[in-house]
Amino acid sequence: MKRTLSIFAAAIIAGGLFAQSIDLPAPQKTGGMPLMEVLAKRSTARAFDSKDLSPRQISSLLWAAFGINRPDGKRTAPSARNFQETDIYVLLKQGAYVYIAKSNKLDLVVAEDIRALGGTQAFVKDAPVTLVFVADLSKMGSGSNEEKKNTANIDVGYISQNVYLFCASEGLVTGARGSVDRAALGPRLKLRPDQMIILAQSAGYPKP
Ligand SMILES: Cc1cc2nc3c(=O)[nH]c(=O)nc-3n(C[C@H](O)[C@H](O)[C@H](O)COP(=O)(O)O)c2cc1C
Repeated sequence: MKRTLSIFAAAIIAGGLFAQSIDLPAPQKTGGMPLMEVLAKRSTARAFDSKDLSPRQISSLLWAAFGINRPDGKRTAPSARNFQETDIYVLLKQGAYVYIAKSNKLDLVVAEDIRALGGTQAFVKDAPVTLVFVADLSKMGSGSNEEKKNTANIDVGYISQNVYLFCASEGLVTGARGSVDRAALGPRLKLRPDQMIILAQSAGYPKP
C-alpha cells in the first residue's frame, strides 16, 4: 500500500501535476523606503545569493512590476493605449510560471528549473527569481510588427524600472538583461509566434 502511494506521488511529481498554479499571498502595498533614497540606491547587479525569496516577496515584486493598482484593472506601469501586452514569466527553482495579475497567482508553464536559460551570463543560474518580460503582439491592435515591437520595448522599460525600484527599496538586488538566447528560451516557455521576449531581469539577495 505504502509502495503504491509513493509510486503515485512520484508519478504526480514527474507529471508536474503537483503545482499547476501557485496562489500567491497578498502583496505588501504599503511602506518601503522613501523614493529619493530608492533612486540613490538603484543599480544593476551581476551577482546573486542563491537564497530563495519568500512567496510574499515574490508577490510584492510582481505587483510592483505590473500588478493591478486600480479598480478598473489598470496597472502599476503604464502601457501604450492601455494594451497591457506584457506577460511576466517567472523562472523559479521548481519551474517556470506566468504571472496572472488579476487572480494574483502563478500558472505553471513547465515544472523544470530553466533559470539558466534566463540569460547568457554565468551568474544567471544563481538568482532565485528571473522575470522574463514577454510582449503579446496579438494584444496590440493594428499597425506593423515593427511599430508594435517598438512600443512593447518602451512598455517593458517601465516595468523593469518598477522592479529596480522595488528591489532597491527592499534591500534586494536586480539586473535587467537584453542578452537572452531567445531561440532557446521561447520554446521552453511555449511561446506562440506572436509572443516576443523583450527583456529578462533577475532578482534576489546580494551575494555576501
Ligand atoms: C535594455 C537593457 C538591456 C540590458 N542588458 C544587459 C545584459 O544583457 N547584461 C548585463 O549584464 N546588463 C544588462 N543591462 C544593464 C546595463 O548594463 C546597466 O543598466 C548599465 O551598465 C548601467 O548600470 P546601472 O544599471 O547599475 O546604472 C541592460 C540594461 C538595459 C536597460
